Amino acid sequence: MKNRINQLKEEWDSREKRLGQTKRAVLFKRFPAWLNNHIHKQHVRFVLENIPQHANQLLDVGCGYGRISKEIKSHHLQLSFTGIELCTEFAAAYEKEIGSCFNGAIQDFQADRHYDVIIIVTLLMYLDGEERQAIINKLWSILAPGGMMICIEPAIEFLNLWRRLTRTQFASPTGGSVYHFSMPELQGLFAADAENTMSVHLLPLLRSTALHHGVAVSKPIELL
Ligand SMILES: C[S@@+](CC[C@H](N)C(=O)[O-])C[C@H]1O[C@@H](n2cnc3c(N)ncnc32)[C@H](O)[C@@H]1O
Repeated sequence: MKNRINQLKEEWDSREKRLGQTKRAVLFKRFPAWLNNHIHKQHVRFVLENIPQHANQLLDVGCGYGRISKEIKSHHLQLSFTGIELCTEFAAAYEKEIGSCFNGAIQDFQADRHYDVIIIVTLLMYLDGEERQAIINKLWSILAPGGMMICIEPAIEFLNLWRRLTRTQFASPTGGSVYHFSMPELQGLFAADAENTMSVHLLPLLRSTALHHGVAVSKPIELL
């Protein structure tokens, strides 16, 4: 596992050097800027819609340079931000502009508090099945009762469409081999039903062009 994390860190450090702290670096490097901007706006809208009013502490897991946290910060001045990020330069940018950032892997992160909001945007796609569930369970355990977990990951629909169009069995729209989810599969990772879901489509409402799926899951307040 350590080798895989080290390799991923090297890839992200080098990607940051090539593409900088840009949407292209953390979304689709082959897509035009207008399309990455469109995807970004839909991510931000979904995240903002689902932040509980009472929230104080936010954890952004695999935060990148803070693409999403930065937008949240401009709307929710009361929130304290913590990031977790492998790439050294991204973590430094997050620390400088948004909040404290653990420069390491989520697998090694030790929480010292509970969070009211945990966001995970295109991070689970790097984990294999068992690890993915273990990470979600770990994050669920540090989500405060009444808190919200918001997760957005690549959709299987666009991967399938891409493979049909390019007539290749193993090609992927990102060029790498990351995991793609169906909506039920993404929902099934969580210990409670989703309060809200969304999909980002390349062509509006055409299901086969879904690029990303998002879920927002609230942790029930346990009654004594
Ligand atoms: C596709 S980018 C998304 C960044 C950010 N969430 C966003 O949407 O703008 C994935 C990020 O997750 C980070 N990452 C990947 N695996 C990680 C891990 N195991 N622990 C912490 N960060 C990780 C990468 O360094 C990269 O910055």
